[in-house]
Amino acid sequence: MSTGSYNFETMGNAEFQTERLSQQARAVRGLEAGILRSAGIQTGHDVLELGCGPGFVTDLLAELAPQGSLYAIEPSPTLLAQVENNVRHKPARGLFPIQAYGDHLPNPDNSIDFSYARFVLQHIPQPDTVISEIHRVLRPGGHFCAVDSDDGLVVFFPEDTRVNQVLQTAQSAQLEKGGDRFIGRKLQNMMTKAGFINVKSRVLALTSSELPFEVLFNILLGYKASLLKDTIDLNKLFQDISEQVTSGHQLVAGGVFIVTGEKEITHN
Ligand SMILES: C[S@@+](CC[C@H](N)C(=O)[O-])C[C@H]1O[C@@H](n2cnc3c(N)ncnc32)[C@H](O)[C@@H]1O
Repeated sequence: MSTGSYNFETMGNAEFQTERLSQQARAVRGLEAGILRSAGIQTGHDVLELGCGPGFVTDLLAELAPQGSLYAIEPSPTLLAQVENNVRHKPARGLFPIQAYGDHLPNPDNSIDFSYARFVLQHIPQPDTVISEIHRVLRPGGHFCAVDSDDGLVVFFPEDTRVNQVLQTAQSAQLEKGGDRFIGRKLQNMMTKAGFINVKSRVLALTSSELPFEVLFNILLGYKASLLKDTIDLNKLFQDISEQVTSGHQLVAGGVFIVTGEKEITHN
């Protein structure tokens, strides 16, 4: 399988992208812990994180399920190599960073209690196949939580034509590589089709009044920097909008979809 629209080895702005992931994880850590708890994670769970990147969120999963095992699945060898260092307290049954793609998970059927995919499915050319794989490895009664973007939830007001240009350029570039900037709204149907039950979607939106603007800007537009190829000066755009936000003239808001589902318990 190809890495679709997020191939870290060829991105060219590795340090910026790693810092962006770190900043994103730190800024919402408390909020995310609450999301994961309400999605069903428990202290003794065997957990699988799909597309763990450098492991900043893996660290949170280890904190929430300290008595279980934690499989950190990631295709990029460079990112995977950072996971051990970024997970401060290893869970009791072990941390297992494994190089793999989501469509061929190394785990046996019915072996995982909780799986998490955060900003991953938008990059994958066949998300349906990957969601079915997650369903396969979950134990009956196991939970899956996917958090992902949808550009329909991005608001900059007053509008700036450069923002629309960044979004449109990035949407087509990501689509060309097999990704989908509108995957958030599609996850409910995809998970139901894969056999999950009790599938529920919610939208979490944050504004420039709630998050430091730099963090929000990087969440909404930072990944896109790797797709723009110098067509727009993102630093200048950041400076201009930042001044407007600080003076109270500009509102920025962005949302993500949080979609959860369970694997049915069958009684033979
Ligand atoms: C935007 S990053 C998110 C990393 C991490 N989940 C986070 O939120 O910090 C997307 C991650 O998905 C990984 N990825 C891309 N294609 C994948 C695939 N087919 N299977 C599993 N992971 C994949 C990338 O290598 C990258 O680490």
